Amino acid sequence: MISEEAMPYDGVRSIAVLGVGRVGSAVARTAVSAGYEVRVAGSGAAEDIALLAEIVIPGARAMTAADAVRDADLVVVAVPLGKFRTVDAASLDGKIVIDAMNYWPPVDGVIADFADSGVSSTEVVRGHLAGARLVRTLNHIGYHDLEDHAAPAGTPGRRALAVASDDDDAAAVVLPVIDRFGFDAVRSGPLATGRAFEPGTRIFSGAFSTDQLRHELALHLDSTLERQN
Ligand SMILES: NC(=O)c1ccc[n+]([C@@H]2O[C@H](COP(=O)([O-])OP(=O)(O)OC[C@H]3O[C@@H](n4cnc5c(N)ncnc54)[C@H](OP(=O)(O)O)[C@@H]3O)[C@@H](O)[C@H]2O)c1
Repeated sequence: MISEEAMPYDGVRSIAVLGVGRVGSAVARTAVSAGYEVRVAGSGAAEDIALLAEIVIPGARAMTAADAVRDADLVVVAVPLGKFRTVDAASLDGKIVIDAMNYWPPVDGVIADFADSGVSSTEVVRGHLAGARLVRTLNHIGYHDLEDHAAPAGTPGRRALAVASDDDDAAAVVLPVIDRFGFDAVRSGPLATGRAFEPGTRIFSGAFSTDQLRHELALHLDSTLERQN
């Protein structure tokens, strides 16, 4: 962990992670290692996850979701997509929120809201988290790879992660966080471009450097335009 004096600050000091499962734990550990002040929350009381947090995410503080997000600079939502409506939308009004969730029918079952919606899952989530400044990222990397594939900036072939948002200022806050997590951050465009890295896509199934990811995003956009014409 880096010292407090060296703590990164580009508008983000504290990160609240909602969900302490596979993804939430890995994101929270990564954030602690990157020097952020990290709070984690499950669906219940802080005590329910206190021991887990102490052992699995040393350095993070277990809280209720309400306490975790209250004055957090950035919130990461990593709950199963079928439970996204249990996240208290009002508590996220005005917050920069990373949606790390995916629609994954083998795990989630078929959810009518997402099946054949024709839009990215984050655009569906936006219907519930209407006041949040949503950024879609961290979705196309396996939870175990988040720590295994992290590398310092400038490492040749460093893995890149796509960042989609309708809010340029929110995306600009998230980009350096992804970099500090150990990945190049590639702005894909508005939330609609999040479809390019949903389950079933080449980007979702692969691991790409910045140049490769830009190429894959362009290919996806081309094929989308072709389908529309
Ligand atoms: N598997 C991957 O490698 C991967 C990669 C990228 C993205 N994703 C996506 O990330 C999401 C999370 O996946 P996961 O595998 O980490 O799930 P998981 O292991 O099942 O963990 C889910 C966590 O969410 C918590 N939770 C549920 N409702 C909550 C709420 N309202 N507020 C706060 N916490 C809540 C659960 O806590 P309780 O026990 O208290 O309910 C649990 O800690 C999914 O959408 C998944 O598709 C997965």
